[in-house]
Amino acid sequence: MSRRNPYSRADHRTLNAKAQGYPARSVFKLQEIDERCHLLKVGQCVVDLGAAPGSWSMYVAKKIGPTGKLLAVDLQAIEQSFPANVTVLQGDALTLDTGLHERWAPYDVVLSDMAPKTTGDKFANAARSHDLFCSALSVAVAFGRPGGHFVGKLFMGPDFQQARKLVADAFEQVKVVKPKGTRDNSVEVFLVGMGRKSPELEPVGD
Ligand SMILES: C[S@@+](CC[C@H](N)C(=O)[O-])C[C@H]1O[C@@H](n2cnc3c(N)ncnc32)[C@H](O)[C@@H]1O
Repeated sequence: MSRRNPYSRADHRTLNAKAQGYPARSVFKLQEIDERCHLLKVGQCVVDLGAAPGSWSMYVAKKIGPTGKLLAVDLQAIEQSFPANVTVLQGDALTLDTGLHERWAPYDVVLSDMAPKTTGDKFANAARSHDLFCSALSVAVAFGRPGGHFVGKLFMGPDFQQARKLVADAFEQVKVVKPKGTRDNSVEVFLVGMGRKSPELEPVGD
């Protein structure tokens, strides 16, 4: 049985991403989600949480065109250059000033590919991923346009069904997507919320 580290060398998706000018292979995950769910369109206002090194943001910038606007946020600096309608912010998405979101909102699409630094403890990793996921979902719930969409990455763990229900409470339709571009050994999935419900239609207090 091969014990080769899947992260130790560039695979064909990484090489393909670089050849197309993207800094990371993760672009193919968003591309597949978008092709399956039809989320991104010209002129939209989008926030990309956990955006470094910038592949998703590059893809979004192409899809929304010069009439759209994109806010790209990450703890790490993003060196990728973008068109003028993309604003890059280095900071913690969990503690972003709500005033900032108020200035940008309503978002047509809220994206989160945020991932915690992992340790050998898969339950702790899943719990931290769940916290990041819930934080991104709360942005979509508070600042997403009715009818808008949400994509959040989540590590499979004991809280998965609860996360799925939270998305179902706020969106008309939920899809669970494990894109082909996800590495075979990865526990990550994406929950896609399509069609943000009007806030008055959401269940209260359950
Ligand atoms: C898988 S990478 C994102 C890749 C990106 N979608 C792309 O295509 O280039 C996950 C990112 O989440 C970021 N991240 C983790 N926790 C965060 C937080 N609290 N606030 C902002 N970014 C965070 C990490 O710094 C990391 O860059």
